Amino acid sequence: MKTQVAIVGSGPAGLLLGALLHKAGIDHVILEQRSKDYVLSRIRAGVLEQGSGEMLDELGIGARMHAEGLVHDGIELCFRGRRHRIDLHGLTAAATGTGKSVMVYGQTEVTKDLMEAREAWGLTTVYEAEDVAISGWDATAPTISYRKDGRQHQLACEYVAGCDGFHGVSRETVADRIRTYERVYPFGWLGVLSETPPVSHELIYANHERGFALCSMRSPTRSRYYVQCSLEDKVEQWSDQRFWDELRSRLDEKAADTLVTGASIEKSIAPLRSFVAEPLRFGRLFLAGDAAHIVPPTGAKGLNLAVSDVRYLSRALIERYRTGEESALDGYSARALRRVWKAVRFSWWMTSMMHRFPDTGEFGQKIQESELDYLTHSTPAAMSLAENYVGLPFED
Ligand code: APR
Ligand code: PHB
Repeated sequence: MKTQVAIVGSGPAGLLLGALLHKAGIDHVILEQRSKDYVLSRIRAGVLEQGSGEMLDELGIGARMHAEGLVHDGIELCFRGRRHRIDLHGLTAAATGTGKSVMVYGQTEVTKDLMEAREAWGLTTVYEAEDVAISGWDATAPTISYRKDGRQHQLACEYVAGCDGFHGVSRETVADRIRTYERVYPFGWLGVLSETPPVSHELIYANHERGFALCSMRSPTRSRYYVQCSLEDKVEQWSDQRFWDELRSRLDEKAADTLVTGASIEKSIAPLRSFVAEPLRFGRLFLAGDAAHIVPPTGAKGLNLAVSDVRYLSRALIERYRTGEESALDGYSARALRRVWKAVRFSWWMTSMMHRFPDTGEFGQKIQESELDYLTHSTPAAMSLAENYVGLPFED
């Protein structure tokens, strides 16, 4: 098999890149290690920056997002037992002249819409491609080998996009040339999905002496809640009852009283990490999305960063095929990383402000509350939070 761009991984980064290249008439193939059902069963975050939603619109696949997604003009910060609203739309309007919002629409739904579009467009995705190995990326003719149904295959291509997530093969392929930056946080998030109405119509991020809590949602009848937990905790130690009691104890009185509880549909613990690999280009191999960087979920930037990487990468590839010049591809890494680092900083900052850290004690708690007090009473400080939360502008 032969193609112009081989994409490794069919998460949001790979699927979006494929759609953008297809619209520009560039031939590509996606190789995915897992089955389609497996990819669609992964539960991930659910907040799209306005610019991410606009990309789905540009691709002509935003209809279900507009029908089923929930536009949020604000978020709530809860501390010292009280909730304070951050008016995302009003603050960004005052700061930049254009009010912006976010869209609450699950990553799983975005993935589903992109997969259905691929099928309608007749594009090739090889699922259950095992032992993917990338060679020739440092020369002019990369080749990808993989095994499918017990048989060995080769895919010849001109460029490779490594969109295969944190545990993928692409970053591993260039491990000896890469520089990495990492912070591992000393706690995790225990998440619960339940068929219950959300406690509030906007997201609540709560700072509490017992630890962070987040009230999010997937629809008017389906909620997604998280509590900060210990990395040693096991899901089996958290009965539904224990989870609801803990969540309630970290919220303001009104939210605690109105919280509707029910059986959990899904319950899992995720560690928190900030990680960046540099650079993002190695000859004819490019990294994008989780393959290149990880952010803690506070602020929901993971999926949105994958969107911004592939936006820059697709533009650079389109320029290359239009002009024959590689200058735009040469600029991809630095350009994408500038936006990545800003989101890494924002996610680290929100994480630092909202969680209980084992070593900072009561002093740390007081500093966090003071910062939250400042944020919720200073318009310039709130503007900065709002500008980052809805998504910083793209460079082009
Ligand atoms: N060969 C082929 N495919 C692979 C390989 C491999 N060796 N390793 C991993 N993959 C696939 C995974 O099965 C997965 O479907 O690559 C895909 C990577 O998808 P994601 O992990 O979703 O990463 P990305 O597309 O960059 O999306 C970023 O997803 O992980 C969340 O929080 C993250 O929201 C962010 C978004
Ligand atoms: C989610 O709905 O899963 C979610 C929302 C906001 C975050 C993180 C996760 O900051």
